[in-house]
Amino acid sequence: MSPKVIYVSIVFALIAYLATTNFLTPYQHYLKCINLQNLIPQTFSSLPFIFSHTHRHRHHDPNDQKKTTTTICDDFPPDFPPPDTNTTSTFCVDSNGCCNFTSIQAAIDAINVTSTKRTVIWINNGIYFEKVIVPKTKPNITFQGQGYTSTAIVWNDTANSSHGTFYSGSVQVFAANFIAKNISFMNVAPIPGPGIVGAQAVAIRIAGDQAAFWGCGFFGAQDTLHDDRGRHYFKDCYIQGSIDFIFGNAKSFYENCHITSIAGPVAPGAKVIDGSVTAQGRASKDENSGFAFVNCTIGGTGRIWLGRAWRPFSTVVFLSTSMSDIIASEGWNDFNDPTRDQTIFYGEYNCTGDGANTTLRVPYAQKLNDTQASLFLNVSFIDADQWLQSYNLN
Ligand SMILES: *[C@@H]1O[C@H](CO)[C@@H](O)[C@H](O)[C@H]1NC(C)=O
Ligand SMILES: *[C@@H]1O[C@H](CO)[C@@H](O)[C@H](O)[C@H]1NC(C)=O
Ligand SMILES: *[C@@H]1O[C@H](CO)[C@@H](O)[C@H](O)[C@H]1NC(C)=O
Ligand SMILES: *[C@@H]1O[C@H](CO)[C@@H](O)[C@H](O)[C@H]1NC(C)=O
Ligand SMILES: *[C@@H]1O[C@H](CO)[C@@H](O)[C@H](O)[C@H]1NC(C)=O
Ligand SMILES: *[C@@H]1O[C@H](CO)[C@@H](O)[C@H](O)[C@H]1NC(C)=O
Ligand SMILES: *[C@@H]1O[C@H](CO)[C@@H](O)[C@H](O)[C@H]1NC(C)=O
Ligand SMILES: *[C@@H]1O[C@H](CO)[C@@H](O)[C@H](O)[C@H]1NC(C)=O
Ligand SMILES: *[C@@H]1O[C@H](CO)[C@@H](O)[C@H](O)[C@H]1NC(C)=O
Ligand SMILES: *[C@@H]1O[C@H](CO)[C@@H](O)[C@H](O)[C@H]1NC(C)=O
Ligand SMILES: *[C@@H]1O[C@H](CO)[C@@H](O)[C@H](O)[C@H]1NC(C)=O
Ligand SMILES: *[C@@H]1O[C@H](CO)[C@@H](O)[C@H](O)[C@H]1NC(C)=O
Repeated sequence: MSPKVIYVSIVFALIAYLATTNFLTPYQHYLKCINLQNLIPQTFSSLPFIFSHTHRHRHHDPNDQKKTTTTICDDFPPDFPPPDTNTTSTFCVDSNGCCNFTSIQAAIDAINVTSTKRTVIWINNGIYFEKVIVPKTKPNITFQGQGYTSTAIVWNDTANSSHGTFYSGSVQVFAANFIAKNISFMNVAPIPGPGIVGAQAVAIRIAGDQAAFWGCGFFGAQDTLHDDRGRHYFKDCYIQGSIDFIFGNAKSFYENCHITSIAGPVAPGAKVIDGSVTAQGRASKDENSGFAFVNCTIGGTGRIWLGRAWRPFSTVVFLSTSMSDIIASEGWNDFNDPTRDQTIFYGEYNCTGDGANTTLRVPYAQKLNDTQASLFLNVSFIDADQWLQSYNLN
Protein backbone atom coordinates (compact mmCIF):
# COMPACT_ATOMS: atom_id res chain seq x y z
CA MET A 1 0.00 0.00 0.00
CA SER A 2 1.50 3.30 -1.00
CA PRO A 3 2.26 5.48 2.00
CA LYS A 4 2.56 8.51 -0.20
CA VAL A 5 0.26 11.29 0.78
CA ILE A 6 -0.78 13.21 -2.26
CA TYR A 7 -1.83 16.78 -2.58
CA VAL A 8 -5.05 17.11 -4.50
CA SER A 9 -7.46 19.95 -4.66
CA ILE A 10 -10.49 18.19 -3.36
CA VAL A 11 -12.39 20.77 -1.43
CA PHE A 12 -14.14 22.31 -4.41
CA ALA A 13 -15.12 18.95 -5.81
CA LEU A 14 -16.42 17.97 -2.43
CA ILE A 15 -18.55 21.08 -2.09
CA ALA A 16 -19.87 20.57 -5.60
CA TYR A 17 -20.85 17.05 -4.71
CA LEU A 18 -22.47 17.99 -1.45
CA ALA A 19 -24.33 20.87 -3.04
CA THR A 20 -26.38 18.25 -4.84
CA THR A 21 -27.43 16.76 -1.53
CA ASN A 22 -29.67 17.84 1.25
CA PHE A 23 -26.91 17.82 3.79
CA LEU A 24 -24.93 20.89 3.00
CA THR A 25 -26.31 23.63 5.15
CA PRO A 26 -24.72 23.29 8.58
CA TYR A 27 -21.46 22.03 7.19
CA GLN A 28 -20.86 24.54 4.45
CA HIS A 29 -18.58 26.77 6.44
CA TYR A 30 -16.76 23.77 7.84
CA LEU A 31 -16.13 22.31 4.43
CA LYS A 32 -14.79 25.55 3.06
CA CYS A 33 -12.25 25.80 5.85
CA ILE A 34 -11.22 22.24 6.24
CA ASN A 35 -7.87 21.22 4.91
CA LEU A 36 -8.10 17.56 4.12
CA GLN A 37 -5.18 17.59 1.76
CA ASN A 38 -2.52 16.27 4.04
CA LEU A 39 -4.56 13.41 5.34
CA ILE A 40 -6.47 11.94 2.47
CA PRO A 41 -4.45 8.98 1.32
CA GLN A 42 -4.04 8.07 -2.29
CA THR A 43 -6.55 5.26 -2.03
CA PHE A 44 -9.23 7.60 -0.81
CA SER A 45 -8.64 10.22 -3.47
CA SER A 46 -9.45 7.70 -6.16
CA LEU A 47 -13.09 7.88 -5.18
CA PRO A 48 -14.59 9.08 -8.42
CA PHE A 49 -17.65 10.90 -7.18
CA ILE A 50 -16.21 12.63 -4.18
CA PHE A 51 -12.64 13.49 -4.99
CA SER A 52 -11.26 14.66 -8.24
CA HIS A 53 -7.63 15.03 -9.24
CA THR A 54 -8.44 16.99 -12.32
CA HIS A 55 -11.41 19.16 -11.46
CA ARG A 56 -10.00 22.01 -9.51
CA HIS A 57 -13.12 24.12 -9.75
CA ARG A 58 -16.72 23.77 -8.90
CA HIS A 59 -18.90 22.20 -11.55
CA HIS A 60 -21.38 24.49 -13.25
CA ASP A 61 -22.82 22.12 -15.80
CA PRO A 62 -26.50 21.82 -14.82
CA ASN A 63 -26.77 18.48 -16.62
CA ASP A 64 -24.28 17.00 -14.20
CA GLN A 65 -26.41 17.95 -11.30
CA LYS A 66 -29.60 16.71 -12.92
CA LYS A 67 -28.04 13.40 -13.75
CA THR A 68 -26.81 13.03 -10.18
CA THR A 69 -30.12 13.80 -8.55
CA THR A 70 -32.11 11.46 -10.75
CA THR A 71 -29.82 8.48 -10.30
CA ILE A 72 -28.49 8.92 -6.83
CA CYS A 73 -30.86 6.56 -5.03
CA ASP A 74 -31.11 3.96 -7.77
CA ASP A 75 -28.79 1.59 -5.99
CA PHE A 76 -31.26 1.09 -3.20
CA PRO A 77 -33.61 -1.83 -3.64
CA PRO A 78 -37.13 -1.01 -2.47
CA ASP A 79 -36.91 -3.44 0.42
CA PHE A 80 -33.72 -1.99 1.88
CA PRO A 81 -32.95 -2.11 4.73
CA PRO A 82 -34.21 -5.63 5.28
CA PRO A 83 -36.66 -6.32 8.10
CA ASP A 84 -35.39 -7.40 11.51
CA THR A 85 -34.34 -10.97 12.00
CA ASN A 86 -34.46 -12.75 15.33
CA THR A 87 -31.01 -11.49 16.13
CA THR A 88 -30.41 -8.38 14.04
CA SER A 89 -31.94 -5.02 13.16
CA THR A 90 -30.56 -3.07 10.23
CA PHE A 91 -30.55 0.72 10.08
CA CYS A 92 -29.55 2.50 6.92
CA VAL A 93 -27.52 5.71 6.66
CA ASP A 94 -27.04 7.59 3.42
CA SER A 95 -25.83 11.15 3.23
CA ASN A 96 -28.06 11.81 0.20
CA GLY A 97 -31.20 10.93 2.06
CA CYS A 98 -31.92 7.75 0.12
CA CYS A 99 -32.82 5.82 3.26
CA ASN A 100 -33.85 6.37 6.88
CA PHE A 101 -30.92 8.35 8.24
CA THR A 102 -28.57 10.96 6.85
CA SER A 103 -26.17 10.89 9.79
CA ILE A 104 -24.65 8.05 11.74
CA GLN A 105 -25.38 9.69 15.07
CA ALA A 106 -29.07 9.94 14.18
CA ALA A 107 -29.14 6.20 13.59
CA ILE A 108 -27.40 5.50 16.90
CA ASP A 109 -29.81 7.81 18.69
CA ALA A 110 -32.74 5.92 17.19
CA ILE A 111 -31.68 2.57 18.64
CA ASN A 112 -33.94 1.59 21.51
CA VAL A 113 -31.81 0.95 24.61
CA THR A 114 -34.04 -2.03 25.41
CA SER A 115 -33.01 -3.79 22.20
CA THR A 116 -31.32 -7.13 22.73
CA LYS A 117 -30.50 -7.60 19.07
CA ARG A 118 -27.39 -6.53 17.28
CA THR A 119 -28.03 -3.33 15.36
CA VAL A 120 -26.21 -3.19 12.04
CA ILE A 121 -25.84 0.41 10.93
CA TRP A 122 -25.35 0.09 7.21
CA ILE A 123 -23.52 3.19 5.97
CA ASN A 124 -23.44 4.07 2.31
CA ASN A 125 -20.40 5.39 0.44
CA GLY A 126 -19.50 8.90 1.39
CA ILE A 127 -17.78 11.14 3.88
CA TYR A 128 -19.77 11.78 7.01
CA PHE A 129 -18.67 15.01 8.66
CA GLU A 130 -19.82 14.47 12.18
CA LYS A 131 -18.57 13.73 15.64
CA VAL A 132 -20.03 10.38 16.67
CA ILE A 133 -20.56 8.90 20.12
CA VAL A 134 -21.65 5.33 20.79
CA PRO A 135 -22.84 5.54 24.40
CA LYS A 136 -22.28 2.81 26.94
CA THR A 137 -26.03 2.07 26.98
CA LYS A 138 -25.93 0.84 23.37
CA PRO A 139 -23.87 -2.35 23.06
CA ASN A 140 -23.89 -4.67 20.06
CA ILE A 141 -23.71 -2.11 17.28
CA THR A 142 -22.04 -2.81 13.95
CA PHE A 143 -20.94 -0.07 11.56
CA GLN A 144 -20.94 -1.61 8.09
CA GLY A 145 -19.30 0.66 5.52
CA GLN A 146 -18.67 0.04 1.82
CA GLY A 147 -14.87 -0.04 1.98
CA TYR A 148 -12.33 1.96 3.94
CA THR A 149 -11.41 3.93 0.85
CA SER A 150 -14.99 4.97 0.14
CA THR A 151 -16.80 5.41 3.47
CA ALA A 152 -15.44 7.62 6.25
CA ILE A 153 -16.41 9.44 9.40
CA VAL A 154 -14.46 12.67 9.63
CA TRP A 155 -14.07 15.41 12.22
CA ASN A 156 -11.27 17.72 13.33
CA ASP A 157 -11.24 18.23 17.08
CA THR A 158 -7.94 18.55 18.90
CA ALA A 159 -6.91 18.25 22.53
CA ASN A 160 -7.27 22.04 22.75
CA SER A 161 -10.69 22.18 21.13
CA SER A 162 -12.20 19.36 23.18
CA HIS A 163 -10.94 19.58 26.78
CA GLY A 164 -8.18 17.07 26.21
CA THR A 165 -6.90 14.39 23.87
CA PHE A 166 -9.31 11.79 25.23
CA TYR A 167 -12.31 13.76 24.00
CA SER A 168 -10.90 14.75 20.61
CA GLY A 169 -11.98 11.56 18.84
CA SER A 170 -14.05 11.92 15.70
CA VAL A 171 -15.71 8.74 16.93
CA GLN A 172 -15.87 7.67 20.57
CA VAL A 173 -17.09 4.20 21.46
CA PHE A 174 -18.03 3.57 25.08
CA ALA A 175 -20.26 0.56 24.46
CA ALA A 176 -19.23 -3.10 24.52
CA ASN A 177 -19.34 -5.49 21.58
CA PHE A 178 -18.83 -2.83 18.96
CA ILE A 179 -17.94 -3.97 15.44
CA ALA A 180 -16.82 -1.90 12.47
CA LYS A 181 -16.30 -3.20 8.97
CA ASN A 182 -14.99 -1.55 5.83
CA ILE A 183 -15.09 2.03 7.04
CA SER A 184 -12.56 4.74 7.89
CA PHE A 185 -12.24 6.94 10.95
CA MET A 186 -10.43 10.20 10.33
CA ASN A 187 -9.32 13.24 12.23
CA VAL A 188 -8.32 15.99 9.81
CA ALA A 189 -7.15 18.65 12.27
CA PRO A 190 -3.97 20.35 11.06
CA ILE A 191 -0.85 18.22 11.42
CA PRO A 192 1.16 19.75 14.28
CA GLY A 193 4.65 21.01 13.61
CA PRO A 194 7.49 20.21 16.01
CA GLY A 195 6.94 21.47 19.53
CA ILE A 196 3.29 22.36 19.07
CA VAL A 197 1.20 21.50 22.12
CA GLY A 198 -2.50 20.78 22.31
CA ALA A 199 -2.78 19.50 18.75
CA GLN A 200 -3.33 15.82 19.51
CA ALA A 201 -6.22 14.71 17.34
CA VAL A 202 -7.78 11.29 17.82
CA ALA A 203 -9.69 9.59 14.99
CA ILE A 204 -11.38 7.04 17.24
CA ARG A 205 -11.41 6.22 20.94
CA ILE A 206 -12.33 2.63 21.74
CA ALA A 207 -13.33 2.41 25.39
CA GLY A 208 -15.66 -0.59 25.29
CA ASP A 209 -14.70 -4.23 25.78
CA GLN A 210 -14.82 -6.81 22.97
CA ALA A 211 -14.58 -4.60 19.90
CA ALA A 212 -13.61 -5.83 16.43
CA PHE A 213 -12.50 -3.91 13.36
CA TRP A 214 -12.30 -5.54 9.95
CA GLY A 215 -10.93 -3.80 6.88
CA CYS A 216 -11.04 -0.38 8.56
CA GLY A 217 -8.95 2.76 8.10
CA PHE A 218 -7.66 5.03 10.85
CA PHE A 219 -6.30 8.37 9.68
CA GLY A 220 -4.69 11.13 11.69
CA ALA A 221 -1.29 12.37 12.78
CA GLN A 222 -0.58 12.58 16.52
CA ASP A 223 -2.62 10.07 18.58
CA THR A 224 -4.75 8.67 15.74
CA LEU A 225 -6.03 5.48 17.34
CA HIS A 226 -6.91 5.70 21.01
CA ASP A 227 -6.99 2.02 21.87
CA ASP A 228 -8.23 2.96 25.30
CA ARG A 229 -9.42 -0.09 27.23
CA GLY A 230 -10.94 -3.53 26.82
CA ARG A 231 -10.08 -6.37 24.47
CA HIS A 232 -9.96 -5.43 20.81
CA TYR A 233 -9.30 -7.09 17.48
CA PHE A 234 -8.10 -5.39 14.29
CA LYS A 235 -7.78 -7.26 11.03
CA ASP A 236 -6.77 -5.99 7.61
CA CYS A 237 -6.75 -2.40 8.83
CA TYR A 238 -4.83 0.63 7.59
CA ILE A 239 -3.49 2.84 10.36
CA GLN A 240 -1.86 6.18 9.66
CA GLY A 241 -0.22 8.67 12.01
CA SER A 242 2.97 10.25 13.23
CA ILE A 243 3.45 10.36 17.00
CA ASP A 244 2.06 7.73 19.40
CA PHE A 245 -0.51 6.93 16.79
CA ILE A 246 -1.66 3.69 18.39
CA PHE A 247 -1.94 4.46 22.08
CA GLY A 248 -3.92 3.51 25.15
CA ASN A 249 -4.35 0.82 27.76
CA ALA A 250 -6.33 -1.78 25.83
CA LYS A 251 -5.39 -5.39 25.22
CA SER A 252 -5.38 -5.65 21.47
CA PHE A 253 -4.48 -8.00 18.66
CA TYR A 254 -3.57 -6.41 15.33
CA GLU A 255 -3.52 -8.93 12.49
CA ASN A 256 -2.40 -8.22 8.95
CA CYS A 257 -2.60 -4.45 9.41
CA HIS A 258 -0.75 -1.82 7.40
CA ILE A 259 0.83 0.82 9.56
CA THR A 260 1.93 4.01 7.83
CA SER A 261 3.95 6.80 9.38
CA ILE A 262 3.49 10.34 8.08
CA ALA A 263 6.17 11.76 10.38
CA GLY A 264 8.40 14.33 8.67
CA PRO A 265 11.14 12.88 6.48
CA VAL A 266 14.54 12.71 8.19
CA ALA A 267 17.78 13.10 6.27
CA PRO A 268 20.01 10.02 6.25
CA GLY A 269 22.51 10.27 9.08
CA ALA A 270 20.57 12.95 10.97
CA LYS A 271 20.10 12.06 14.63
CA VAL A 272 16.42 12.87 14.75
CA ILE A 273 13.52 10.73 15.88
CA ASP A 274 10.18 12.31 15.07
CA GLY A 275 7.51 9.76 15.84
CA SER A 276 6.45 6.53 17.44
CA VAL A 277 4.04 3.84 16.31
CA THR A 278 2.78 3.01 19.80
CA ALA A 279 2.47 4.50 23.26
CA GLN A 280 0.96 1.64 25.21
CA GLY A 281 -0.37 2.74 28.58
CA ARG A 282 -0.14 -0.22 30.94
CA ALA A 283 0.57 1.35 34.32
CA SER A 284 1.08 -1.59 36.67
CA LYS A 285 1.84 -5.26 36.98
CA ASP A 286 -1.75 -5.88 38.01
CA GLU A 287 -3.13 -4.83 34.65
CA ASN A 288 -2.91 -7.20 31.69
CA SER A 289 -3.14 -4.83 28.77
CA GLY A 290 -0.77 -4.82 25.80
CA PHE A 291 -0.62 -4.60 22.03
CA ALA A 292 0.32 -7.55 19.83
CA PHE A 293 0.99 -7.02 16.12
CA VAL A 294 1.16 -10.11 13.92
CA ASN A 295 1.77 -10.25 10.17
CA CYS A 296 1.67 -6.47 9.86
CA THR A 297 3.71 -4.02 7.81
CA ILE A 298 5.24 -0.74 8.90
CA GLY A 299 6.23 1.85 6.32
CA GLY A 300 5.96 5.50 5.42
CA THR A 301 8.13 8.48 6.28
CA GLY A 302 10.16 9.82 9.19
CA ARG A 303 12.35 8.04 11.69
CA ILE A 304 10.27 6.54 14.42
CA TRP A 305 10.28 4.21 17.37
CA LEU A 306 8.17 1.08 17.53
CA GLY A 307 6.96 2.28 20.89
CA ARG A 308 7.58 4.55 23.77
CA ALA A 309 6.67 3.87 27.35
CA TRP A 310 3.75 6.13 28.12
CA ARG A 311 3.37 4.22 31.39
CA PRO A 312 5.92 2.08 33.31
CA PHE A 313 4.57 -1.34 32.31
CA SER A 314 4.03 -0.51 28.65
CA THR A 315 3.66 -3.83 26.77
CA VAL A 316 4.03 -4.16 23.00
CA VAL A 317 5.20 -6.96 20.72
CA PHE A 318 5.72 -7.13 16.97
CA LEU A 319 5.66 -10.62 15.46
CA SER A 320 6.24 -11.62 11.84
CA THR A 321 5.98 -7.97 10.87
CA SER A 322 7.85 -6.31 8.05
CA MET A 323 9.45 -3.00 8.97
CA SER A 324 10.96 -0.47 6.58
CA ASP A 325 14.05 1.55 7.39
CA ILE A 326 11.98 4.28 9.05
CA ILE A 327 12.33 2.37 12.31
CA ALA A 328 15.11 3.93 14.40
CA SER A 329 17.87 1.42 15.05
CA GLU A 330 17.39 1.59 18.84
CA GLY A 331 13.78 0.60 18.24
CA TRP A 332 12.15 1.70 21.45
CA ASN A 333 12.11 4.53 23.98
CA ASP A 334 11.52 4.56 27.74
CA PHE A 335 10.01 8.06 27.82
CA ASN A 336 13.32 9.32 29.20
CA ASP A 337 12.69 7.45 32.44
CA PRO A 338 15.31 4.70 32.88
CA THR A 339 13.45 3.28 35.88
CA ARG A 340 10.90 2.01 33.38
CA ASP A 341 13.50 -0.18 31.65
CA GLN A 342 12.95 -2.85 34.31
CA THR A 343 9.20 -3.03 33.87
CA ILE A 344 8.56 -2.36 30.20
CA PHE A 345 7.84 -5.40 28.02
CA TYR A 346 8.90 -4.72 24.46
CA GLY A 347 9.44 -7.71 22.21
CA GLU A 348 10.13 -8.62 18.62
CA TYR A 349 9.92 -12.00 16.92
CA ASN A 350 10.40 -13.19 13.36
CA CYS A 351 10.23 -9.68 11.87
CA THR A 352 11.73 -8.76 8.51
CA GLY A 353 12.89 -5.71 6.60
CA ASP A 354 15.52 -3.01 7.08
CA GLY A 355 13.84 -1.74 10.23
CA ALA A 356 13.86 -5.13 11.92
CA ASN A 357 17.61 -5.37 12.50
CA THR A 358 17.88 -5.73 16.28
CA THR A 359 21.65 -5.28 16.55
CA LEU A 360 21.47 -1.75 17.92
CA ARG A 361 18.26 -2.07 19.90
CA VAL A 362 17.93 -0.63 23.42
CA PRO A 363 19.07 -3.22 25.99
CA TYR A 364 15.59 -3.72 27.44
CA ALA A 365 14.09 -4.73 24.08
CA GLN A 366 13.63 -8.49 23.94
CA LYS A 367 14.12 -10.91 21.12
CA LEU A 368 11.34 -13.33 21.99
CA ASN A 369 11.87 -17.05 21.83
CA ASP A 370 9.20 -19.41 20.49
CA THR A 371 7.67 -20.01 23.90
CA GLN A 372 7.35 -16.31 24.70
CA ALA A 373 6.05 -15.50 21.23
CA SER A 374 3.33 -18.16 21.41
CA LEU A 375 1.47 -16.10 24.02
CA PHE A 376 0.96 -13.38 21.43
CA LEU A 377 0.76 -15.24 18.13
CA ASN A 378 -2.95 -15.85 17.93
CA VAL A 379 -6.25 -14.40 19.08
CA SER A 380 -6.22 -16.32 22.33
CA PHE A 381 -4.24 -13.25 23.53
CA ILE A 382 -7.58 -11.40 23.60
CA ASP A 383 -9.68 -14.37 24.78
CA ALA A 384 -11.25 -14.52 21.36
CA ASP A 385 -13.04 -17.80 22.04
CA GLN A 386 -15.20 -15.92 24.55
CA TRP A 387 -16.46 -13.34 22.12
CA LEU A 388 -14.87 -12.87 18.69
CA GLN A 389 -17.00 -14.01 15.78
CA SER A 390 -15.92 -14.42 12.20
CA TYR A 391 -16.22 -11.60 9.69
CA ASN A 392 -19.34 -13.00 8.06
CA LEU A 393 -21.38 -13.15 11.24
CA ASN A 394 -22.95 -9.88 12.33
C1 LIG B 1 -12.32 22.43 12.38
O1 LIG B 1 -12.73 22.99 11.14
C2 LIG B 1 -13.54 24.15 11.29
C3 LIG B 1 -13.99 24.57 9.91
O2 LIG B 1 -12.92 24.73 9.09
C4 LIG B 1 -12.73 25.26 11.97
O3 LIG B 1 -13.54 26.39 12.16
C5 LIG B 1 -12.23 24.74 13.30
O4 LIG B 1 -11.40 25.71 13.88
C6 LIG B 1 -11.45 23.45 13.11
N1 LIG B 1 -11.11 22.94 14.42
C7 LIG B 1 -9.87 22.70 14.77
C8 LIG B 1 -9.67 22.25 16.16
O5 LIG B 1 -8.94 22.85 14.01
C1 LIG C 1 -37.23 -16.68 14.85
O1 LIG C 1 -38.29 -16.57 15.78
C2 LIG C 1 -39.50 -17.18 15.35
C3 LIG C 1 -40.61 -16.86 16.32
O2 LIG C 1 -40.15 -16.95 17.64
C4 LIG C 1 -39.26 -18.68 15.20
O3 LIG C 1 -40.44 -19.30 14.74
C5 LIG C 1 -38.16 -18.90 14.20
O4 LIG C 1 -37.82 -20.27 14.12
C6 LIG C 1 -36.89 -18.13 14.59
N1 LIG C 1 -35.94 -18.22 13.52
C7 LIG C 1 -34.68 -18.49 13.74
C8 LIG C 1 -33.82 -18.53 12.52
O5 LIG C 1 -34.23 -18.69 14.84
C1 LIG D 1 -37.19 3.38 8.01
O1 LIG D 1 -38.17 3.91 7.15
C2 LIG D 1 -39.23 3.00 6.91
C3 LIG D 1 -40.12 3.57 5.82
O2 LIG D 1 -40.22 4.94 5.96
C4 LIG D 1 -39.98 2.74 8.19
O3 LIG D 1 -41.01 1.81 7.97
C5 LIG D 1 -38.99 2.16 9.20
O4 LIG D 1 -39.62 2.00 10.46
C6 LIG D 1 -37.80 3.08 9.37
N1 LIG D 1 -36.81 2.41 10.19
C7 LIG D 1 -36.20 3.00 11.21
C8 LIG D 1 -35.19 2.19 11.93
O5 LIG D 1 -36.42 4.15 11.55
C1 LIG E 1 -38.36 0.80 23.39
O1 LIG E 1 -38.79 -0.54 23.47
C2 LIG E 1 -39.68 -0.76 24.56
C3 LIG E 1 -39.91 -2.24 24.68
O2 LIG E 1 -40.20 -2.81 23.43
C4 LIG E 1 -40.95 0.03 24.29
O3 LIG E 1 -41.84 -0.13 25.36
C5 LIG E 1 -40.61 1.52 24.18
O4 LIG E 1 -41.74 2.25 23.82
C6 LIG E 1 -39.53 1.71 23.12
N1 LIG E 1 -39.09 3.10 23.17
C7 LIG E 1 -39.05 3.87 22.10
C8 LIG E 1 -38.55 5.25 22.32
O5 LIG E 1 -39.39 3.47 21.01
C1 LIG F 1 -24.90 -8.11 23.29
O1 LIG F 1 -24.33 -9.25 22.70
C2 LIG F 1 -23.73 -10.12 23.64
C3 LIG F 1 -22.99 -11.16 22.87
O2 LIG F 1 -23.77 -11.69 21.84
C4 LIG F 1 -24.84 -10.67 24.54
O3 LIG F 1 -24.27 -11.52 25.50
C5 LIG F 1 -25.53 -9.51 25.24
O4 LIG F 1 -26.64 -9.98 25.99
C6 LIG F 1 -26.03 -8.48 24.25
N1 LIG F 1 -26.48 -7.32 25.00
C7 LIG F 1 -27.62 -6.72 24.73
C8 LIG F 1 -27.99 -5.58 25.62
O5 LIG F 1 -28.32 -7.07 23.82
C1 LIG G 1 -3.35 24.92 22.56
O1 LIG G 1 -3.51 25.81 23.64
C2 LIG G 1 -2.28 26.27 24.20
C3 LIG G 1 -2.62 27.11 25.44
O2 LIG G 1 -3.61 28.00 25.14
C4 LIG G 1 -1.52 27.07 23.13
O3 LIG G 1 -0.29 27.50 23.64
C5 LIG G 1 -1.29 26.18 21.93
O4 LIG G 1 -0.67 26.89 20.89
C6 LIG G 1 -2.59 25.59 21.42
N1 LIG G 1 -2.30 24.62 20.38
C7 LIG G 1 -2.92 24.61 19.20
C8 LIG G 1 -2.53 23.53 18.25
O5 LIG G 1 -3.76 25.42 18.88
C1 LIG H 1 -14.18 -5.55 3.92
O1 LIG H 1 -13.21 -6.03 4.86
C2 LIG H 1 -12.92 -7.40 4.70
C3 LIG H 1 -12.10 -7.83 5.87
O2 LIG H 1 -10.93 -7.16 5.93
C4 LIG H 1 -12.25 -7.58 3.34
O3 LIG H 1 -11.95 -8.93 3.14
C5 LIG H 1 -13.18 -7.10 2.26
O4 LIG H 1 -12.53 -7.15 1.02
C6 LIG H 1 -13.64 -5.66 2.53
N1 LIG H 1 -14.69 -5.30 1.57
C7 LIG H 1 -14.71 -4.13 0.95
C8 LIG H 1 -15.86 -3.89 0.04
O5 LIG H 1 -13.85 -3.27 1.11
C1 LIG I 1 7.74 -15.82 10.21
O1 LIG I 1 7.24 -14.83 9.31
C2 LIG I 1 6.93 -15.35 8.03
C3 LIG I 1 6.46 -14.19 7.18
O2 LIG I 1 7.40 -13.16 7.20
C4 LIG I 1 5.84 -16.38 8.12
O3 LIG I 1 5.61 -16.92 6.86
C5 LIG I 1 6.25 -17.46 9.08
O4 LIG I 1 5.13 -18.33 9.28
C6 LIG I 1 6.63 -16.86 10.42
N1 LIG I 1 7.12 -17.89 11.31
C7 LIG I 1 6.63 -18.08 12.54
C8 LIG I 1 7.25 -19.17 13.32
O5 LIG I 1 5.72 -17.41 13.00
C1 LIG J 1 22.35 -5.00 11.35
O1 LIG J 1 22.89 -3.80 11.84
C2 LIG J 1 24.29 -3.92 12.15
C3 LIG J 1 24.70 -2.62 12.83
O2 LIG J 1 24.37 -1.53 12.02
C4 LIG J 1 25.06 -4.21 10.89
O3 LIG J 1 26.44 -4.34 11.18
C5 LIG J 1 24.54 -5.49 10.27
O4 LIG J 1 25.15 -5.70 9.03
C6 LIG J 1 23.03 -5.41 10.07
N1 LIG J 1 22.55 -6.71 9.66
C7 LIG J 1 21.84 -6.88 8.57
C8 LIG J 1 21.38 -8.28 8.29
O5 LIG J 1 21.56 -5.96 7.81
C1 LIG K 1 12.35 -18.42 26.50
O1 LIG K 1 12.64 -17.28 27.27
C2 LIG K 1 12.17 -17.38 28.60
C3 LIG K 1 12.36 -16.00 29.25
O2 LIG K 1 13.64 -15.56 29.05
C4 LIG K 1 12.93 -18.47 29.31
O3 LIG K 1 12.48 -18.60 30.65
C5 LIG K 1 12.69 -19.76 28.56
O4 LIG K 1 13.49 -20.78 29.12
C6 LIG K 1 13.03 -19.63 27.10
N1 LIG K 1 12.57 -20.82 26.41
C7 LIG K 1 13.26 -21.38 25.47
C8 LIG K 1 12.66 -22.59 24.85
O5 LIG K 1 14.35 -20.97 25.14
C1 LIG L 1 -3.12 -20.07 20.29
O1 LIG L 1 -1.84 -20.23 20.90
C2 LIG L 1 -1.89 -20.89 22.15
C3 LIG L 1 -0.51 -20.82 22.76
O2 LIG L 1 0.42 -21.28 21.85
C4 LIG L 1 -2.37 -22.32 21.92
O3 LIG L 1 -2.46 -22.99 23.15
C5 LIG L 1 -3.75 -22.27 21.27
O4 LIG L 1 -4.15 -23.55 20.91
C6 LIG L 1 -3.75 -21.42 20.03
N1 LIG L 1 -5.12 -21.17 19.64
C7 LIG L 1 -5.52 -21.17 18.38
C8 LIG L 1 -6.95 -20.85 18.15
O5 LIG L 1 -4.76 -21.38 17.46
C1 LIG M 1 0.56 -15.02 9.94
O1 LIG M 1 1.01 -15.47 8.68
C2 LIG M 1 1.39 -16.85 8.69
C3 LIG M 1 2.01 -17.16 7.35
O2 LIG M 1 1.16 -16.78 6.33
C4 LIG M 1 0.16 -17.70 8.98
O3 LIG M 1 0.52 -19.04 9.02
C5 LIG M 1 -0.39 -17.29 10.34
O4 LIG M 1 -1.60 -17.97 10.60
C6 LIG M 1 -0.68 -15.79 10.37
N1 LIG M 1 -1.06 -15.41 11.71
C7 LIG M 1 -2.12 -14.68 11.97
C8 LIG M 1 -2.42 -14.40 13.39
O5 LIG M 1 -2.83 -14.24 11.09
